[in-house]
Amino acid sequence: MLSSYAILIFLWLSEALCSTFDYIVVGGGTSGLALAVRLAQSHSVAVVEAGTYYEISYPLAKTPGADVLPVGSDPDATSGADWGPSREALDKWAEAVDDPSYAFDNVLPYYQRSAAFTPPNLARRLANATTLYNSSAFDPAGGPLQVSFTDFVQPFSTWVARGMEGIGLPQSSEYNNGELEGYHYCMSTIRPQDQSRSSSQAAFLPGLLPSNLRLYKNALAKRILFDEDKNAVGVEIDKVGISTTLRATREVVVSAGVFQSPQLLMVSGIGPREHLEQHNIPVISELPGVGQGMQDHPFFGPSYRVAVETLTRLANNPEYLVQEYLRWLKQHEGVLSSPIADFLAWEKIPDDLRTGFSEGTRHNLSLFGDGWPEVEYLSGAGYVGNVSDFYYDQPDDGYEYASILAVLTAPTSQGTVTLASDDTWDLPIIDPNWLETESDQQLAVAAFKRVRQAFASDDMNPVVIGEEYDPGPQVQTDKEILDWIRNNVMTLWHPSRTCRMGTPDDRMAVLDSRARVYGVNRLRVVDASSFPFLPPGHPQATCYMLAEKIADDILLTQQELTRTDL
Ligand SMILES: Cc1cc2nc3c(=O)[nH]c(=O)nc-3n(C[C@H](O)[C@H](O)[C@H](O)COP(=O)(O)OP(=O)(O)OC[C@H]3O[C@@H](n4cnc5c(N)ncnc54)[C@H](O)[C@@H]3O)c2cc1C
Ligand SMILES: *[C@@H]1O[C@H](CO)[C@@H](O)[C@H](O)[C@H]1NC(C)=O
Ligand SMILES: *[C@@H]1O[C@H](CO)[C@@H](O)[C@H](O)[C@H]1NC(C)=O
Ligand SMILES: *[C@@H]1O[C@H](CO)[C@@H](O)[C@H](O)[C@H]1NC(C)=O
Ligand SMILES: *[C@@H]1O[C@H](CO)[C@@H](O)[C@H](O)[C@H]1NC(C)=O
Repeated sequence: MLSSYAILIFLWLSEALCSTFDYIVVGGGTSGLALAVRLAQSHSVAVVEAGTYYEISYPLAKTPGADVLPVGSDPDATSGADWGPSREALDKWAEAVDDPSYAFDNVLPYYQRSAAFTPPNLARRLANATTLYNSSAFDPAGGPLQVSFTDFVQPFSTWVARGMEGIGLPQSSEYNNGELEGYHYCMSTIRPQDQSRSSSQAAFLPGLLPSNLRLYKNALAKRILFDEDKNAVGVEIDKVGISTTLRATREVVVSAGVFQSPQLLMVSGIGPREHLEQHNIPVISELPGVGQGMQDHPFFGPSYRVAVETLTRLANNPEYLVQEYLRWLKQHEGVLSSPIADFLAWEKIPDDLRTGFSEGTRHNLSLFGDGWPEVEYLSGAGYVGNVSDFYYDQPDDGYEYASILAVLTAPTSQGTVTLASDDTWDLPIIDPNWLETESDQQLAVAAFKRVRQAFASDDMNPVVIGEEYDPGPQVQTDKEILDWIRNNVMTLWHPSRTCRMGTPDDRMAVLDSRARVYGVNRLRVVDASSFPFLPPGHPQATCYMLAEKIADDILLTQQELTRTDL
């Protein structure tokens, strides 16, 4: 009798003790896992993740090809990357947050820390897809994230390279040196040995968890808890309907992504006062910038019939998909090892297409500075349309389809994330607000025309079959083009800046340059929402950079505290 009581008490005690950690990280995504694993090298850390090991429940997710297959704009739809920081963007970041540690040369070591680079495998890549690269942009000691070039090059990309030449873009020698201008086959987070996606899960949690790290999966963070002095002391979580409180003796780090980080702050009392009061949430820190100022990279693209194999074949032929999946699994090759968009280019719109820009547009674009490209082009080996669903929307008429996606990388429209209720089970309300400003509209029309010029160039012409398929040559005036873009625009999945960093005198700033939330203590936000603005390159590498940088900051601060304790 006594012994079973003892066991019960022991179990209760160990559970109670185990739910106190040095650090709690909310969100096991790109930034959260990298940060948590670094902190766990010397501290006890809990990761609270609303999802689970999705790469086990959804095996296709391990293939680089899956980066676009299941993710369209269809709201009912469920369920790779490169790094291209620009020197100018990071120097601007340092200026915006008044902290020189963000200048390009100072953050470069943090970009390098997560990444292990493998040069392209020339024996396996297409002979007509040679690419320039510079290994010394990487640190040989970097890792565990794998960065390489996909073995399978989309044949269509070799034609886009010619199209870019045709409209006057230069091949860039490589873009990890902080210059984006020009075209390039891109590096991807692909593990070269088996051509699988090197995600934060695959790279940072490859086997047994570090003993200091406890992962609460299928656990939704409901609220951050504060003591009377506004110190973040814990997180209330909901795991399969059971509410539990986790305690943090040092800090709580929110890495719940661009939509849910501001949501969690707001339901916990941090945000625009009026909005919180509408939902009867007591205000702990009034910060009008929470959920505001969202920036993204909207894209769109006309589609053509082409004379090379593209995603269209894969989408219309389930047997081929299965065959390619097995080929990828066994031989680590084939279409599914391709992230589809394996080729990128950046530029400023050339003078002849700027003549129609208004004064306001010219002014807005001038604010971005010389080294900041206005548009990006991605090779898109498939029909694009309204991007409702890349896979199911491919036409099934025996032709192969392809596009060049035009992306706005100097956008001025800003979106918002607001609460639908005070409960994190309810998704927040997202208003992306793309193409709201005149400068975005005029830039979009010019970018669309550039894509048409590339397809019409002599260099690209041999691969094109017939005239433009979608929207087709009847769409000609700026107004017609803009109308079509409005109905077919999609995000390149780069939303950011909903809990942005800034100086203390900046009313809309949510975080200081060390990612600490203004007005409270021991609380940081580290993910794409923390960016002071969205750089023109793709954000994944910057999420890792920030996680590495803030992990270092936390650990160094801890060491200093320990030293002063002694
Ligand atoms: C389809 C797609 C393709 C992309 N392609 C590229 C690319 O090629 N190159 C590139 O650079 N970038 C790309 N991106 C963008 C890049 O993936 C993101 O910028 C990056 O992953 C954002 O990381 P994060 O840490 O901010 O958030 P996330 O990685 O989204 O992590 C947030 C985590 O928090 C969890 N969470 C949310 N709320 C709660 C809660 N209340 N409690 C507990 N957990 C919670 C979520 O489940 C999630 O795991 C792509 C994105 C998408 C969607
Ligand atoms: C490669 O990168 C290194 C470090 O950034 C630089 O010093 C070197 O000049 C580069 N080499 C070439 C050929 O661009
Ligand atoms: C490059 O080679 C591939 C494979 O032979 C071919 O499909 C593609 O059309 C070629 N590209 C160009 C621009 O010639
Ligand atoms: C998007 O396109 C698909 C077909 O390609 C169509 O079924 C769907 O209705 C379109 N959605 C919108 C919102 O226009
Ligand atoms: C310029 O950008 C600002 C936001 O930064 C926006 O409010 C304004 O409408 C833009 N002007 C034009 C002409 O697009």
